[in-house]
Amino acid sequence: MLNSLSGRFLILTTVFVMLAEVLIFVPSIARYREDFLLNRLERAQIASLALLADDMIDTELEEELLLNAGVFNVVLRRDELRQLVLSSPMPSEVSQTFDLRDANALTLIRDAMARLIDPENETIRVIGNPFRDGGLLIEITLDTSELRMAMIDYGLRILVLSAVISIVTAGLLFLAVRILLVKPIKGVVGHMQSYAKAPEDARRIIQPSASVTELRDAEKALQSLQTQLTQALKQKERLAQLGGAVARVSHDLRNILTSAQLFTDRIEMSEDPAVKRMAPKLVNSITRAVSLCESTLAFGRAEEPAPTLTLINLAQLVSDVLDSERLAIGDFDLSLSEDVPGNLMVRADPEQMYRILSNLVRNARQAIIGTGTPGEINVAAKVCDDAWCIDVTDTGPGLPPKAVEYLFQPFQGGARKGGSGLGLAISEELVRGHGGTLTLVNTDASGTAFRIRLPMGGLT
Ligand SMILES: Nc1ncnc2c1ncn2[C@@H]1O[C@H](COP(=O)(O)OP(=O)(O)OP(=O)(O)O)[C@@H](O)[C@H]1O
Ligand SMILES: [Mg+2]
Repeated sequence: MLNSLSGRFLILTTVFVMLAEVLIFVPSIARYREDFLLNRLERAQIASLALLADDMIDTELEEELLLNAGVFNVVLRRDELRQLVLSSPMPSEVSQTFDLRDANALTLIRDAMARLIDPENETIRVIGNPFRDGGLLIEITLDTSELRMAMIDYGLRILVLSAVISIVTAGLLFLAVRILLVKPIKGVVGHMQSYAKAPEDARRIIQPSASVTELRDAEKALQSLQTQLTQALKQKERLAQLGGAVARVSHDLRNILTSAQLFTDRIEMSEDPAVKRMAPKLVNSITRAVSLCESTLAFGRAEEPAPTLTLINLAQLVSDVLDSERLAIGDFDLSLSEDVPGNLMVRADPEQMYRILSNLVRNARQAIIGTGTPGEINVAAKVCDDAWCIDVTDTGPGLPPKAVEYLFQPFQGGARKGGSGLGLAISEELVRGHGGTLTLVNTDASGTAFRIRLPMGGLT
């Protein structure tokens, strides 16, 4: 309540109205006191006139006249010579004299406040001008208790009135603020929150509806901001998807083209003169295509789709991978062997599994051929605990330090000339997509071993 806009308005309005009431209260209470005293003077003046009829009135009548006027004594000076005097015994000495004839506003206010504050009952003398030119001067003595009681009574009435006014004003302002400000602001905030949940959803863009100009301007600005943001997001999403697709296509296209390059190497050896003439052009074109793929790859990182899991015969898949690698080995002394039980069925995406294995085997083959010394690559599979374990081992030179440091990080770990440093990263991501893990088990000068671990998830 204290921190809400309408709550603060409510409190502030009450405070301000109260403040205004105090400013009104002080002069009016002073005015009230003055009126009270003038009224007593007038009543005393009328009472004293009884003496004009008869100079000697009896004490009883005199007391009654004074009682009715609400004073103890009255002296009305008619002119320089004559004065009318009514008197009765006073309970105490006169303690203060107030002359109303030339009292200014400040004096009146000061005296009124002093009267309110002082609870002591006193006898005071008040001097004023007689009414309707009834004489030169009139003077009365009276008791302050009645005056003070009347002033307190009047003050309380003003206070109650101001309380009622401030409550009504504050209530009305509270309602106005709620309707004019709080509700539309809440609406805008609600729109912003719902938009933030799904900024790509164009239906959530705010439609300006506020009737208050300033708020409407804010809504319009927000609308154009959201429209731009939504468009930018859509474009970004599309570009990201496109980038991912292009990167994936490039990576695998490059590998296909590399195989094609190997075939064209053989075509070059053909005896047919026409073929011999064409072959270098073909090789050049393919090389250009490979480098195009590679520069595209350098641009973006591929996000792989979720695997479509089926039960596949692993031995079959592994021999497919090795067969295609064999083509690339040519005459080099590198032996590929497999150690996979013929009946081993694993649950995996066949196409992705093929890419994982061929990436690992290709890396090993490239590493071994790079050393120029004969070597061996082995793919073995077995059931370990509740997972399928596939090991790809080679007798190559081991991973260079940079590749180990940036293992499975796209574009970072590539240490081979012509490599893009994506193969291991893609393989690791694909294995992870299967809920499994790809780990570097061992790498040193005697060789390298990677292990793919695919959880069975209840299947054997
Ligand atoms: N079996 C291995 N033996 C030695 N080094 C390896 C082996 N596997 C990978 N490497 C090293 O790790 C680096 C990263 O491999 P990765 O497959 O990620 O990239 P790449 O082969 O360079 O490029 P790409 O596979 O994208 O064409 C390679 O450049 C290579 O130096
Ligand atoms: Mg590679």
